[in-house]
Amino acid sequence: MKVLRTKSIEQSLQDTDDPEFQLKRKLSALDLTVFGIGVIIGAGIFTLTGKAAAQYAGPGVVFSFVLAGICCGLAALCYAEFASTVPVSGSAYTFSYATLGELVAWIIGWDLVLELMLGASVVAQGWSTYFVTFLDEIGLGWPDAIGPTETPQWGHVNLPALLLVLVLMALVAIGIKESLRVNLVLVGIKLFIVLFVIIAGLFYITGSNYHPFVPPRAGSVNSSGLGQPLIQWVFGLEPATYGVLGIISAASVVFFAYIGFDVVATTAEEARNPQRDLPRGIIGSLAICTVLYVAVSLVITGMVRYDKIDTSAALASAFRDVGRDGFATLIAAGAVAGLTTVVMTLMIGAIRVLFAMSRDALLPHGFGRTSPRTGTPVRITLTVGVLVALVAGLTPISKLEEMVNIGTLTAFALVSLAVPVLRRTRPELERPFRVPLSPWLPTLAALICVYLALNLSLETWLRFVVWMIIGFAIYFTYGYRRSRVGRAAAVTTTT
Ligand code: ALA
Repeated sequence: MKVLRTKSIEQSLQDTDDPEFQLKRKLSALDLTVFGIGVIIGAGIFTLTGKAAAQYAGPGVVFSFVLAGICCGLAALCYAEFASTVPVSGSAYTFSYATLGELVAWIIGWDLVLELMLGASVVAQGWSTYFVTFLDEIGLGWPDAIGPTETPQWGHVNLPALLLVLVLMALVAIGIKESLRVNLVLVGIKLFIVLFVIIAGLFYITGSNYHPFVPPRAGSVNSSGLGQPLIQWVFGLEPATYGVLGIISAASVVFFAYIGFDVVATTAEEARNPQRDLPRGIIGSLAICTVLYVAVSLVITGMVRYDKIDTSAALASAFRDVGRDGFATLIAAGAVAGLTTVVMTLMIGAIRVLFAMSRDALLPHGFGRTSPRTGTPVRITLTVGVLVALVAGLTPISKLEEMVNIGTLTAFALVSLAVPVLRRTRPELERPFRVPLSPWLPTLAALICVYLALNLSLETWLRFVVWMIIGFAIYFTYGYRRSRVGRAAAVTTTT
């Protein structure tokens, strides 16, 4: 079947030498780790920690972070093996093209575009909220009519979100090294604030807030209709609050906070020594973030009793509650810096995936051409920038946050499954990094991802299916016939 045609790894590597589609190799292991931290730490830790602790797990949210971290860690090992074996732009899309075939690769690529572009739009709106809060805190203001609102409507202009995306787009178009220099400064500020929360918070911990550390099971979360998780709709399993099951429910919520380490793999062609540095960047950034998340959640649940935590802005409120309003301003500033890098990195990821897809002619070929001056795919950059700016600036997109999770979990599951497949089909390939215990560990990673995805709402699944149907329509009317791999195969058979 033609839809199962694969693109050989040798071909993928050879394509990276095409001068019209060449990215510049400039990044070191440290750049990649900073890039990873830049995209991982964001809206998740600033907002979801409080929500997960208050509603699902109490101080036990620490275990939820560990659990979600383990799930991502397993997937990260699989990404690291692939990235070291196939160091080509496009991340999960390229890996699956080499193993599971063109249709699966298209599905993954389409899925990643959803995850990354929607993620960038959602986080840009979150950024705008923190930005206006910060302006308010320092005595300046921002007019409501062109700012973020609690109840966003179609057509309401969220000017800060729109402008942020356009500025970042210009930066990304100028060059990857330049973008990462700005990223480095912002990641520095973000790490400083997170460490500050941990260290300053230590002084306000009250031991009794940790009792009980895992509050006793308290029943189910009431959800029905389209809002209920798929697992409840299919098997009648309702998500629990508190107890051990509550810890698991909270893990699927805080999973969002880890999203992004996979984006490191999209920059494979820009790394100086991808075989060695990509695994370091992916695993290193994830490990650092896991330690920080566990520490932040321990501090916050120690400062405020879990049933009193402010679910919308836990970090800032925890300090306000202990009479430290000034610290709250600092945290808002940290969030502004922190979310900026998340938006930028998610956009870079989306651009690199579309770049790989258009180089393979599954999308129009000319779309991906790089500019000789900047070494970046300028047309794709402008398209992604304008689309993300419009969505972030003019639509009530924040409701679609869960779509980002479903896109990521699907990609993680498929990449994990692809590891043992490639081991079987191409055992001879050099693998500078190998996942231990394959096929067991990759299979376990895929199963955990599927389980977490089943915990997402029915509504999210339906939207995901619609997005996929649009993707299939584009593939069968365009990519299926234009595919570079397909045309090369046709030439070989006719000659
Ligand atoms: N992990 C990223 C965040 O928490 C997406 O904002």
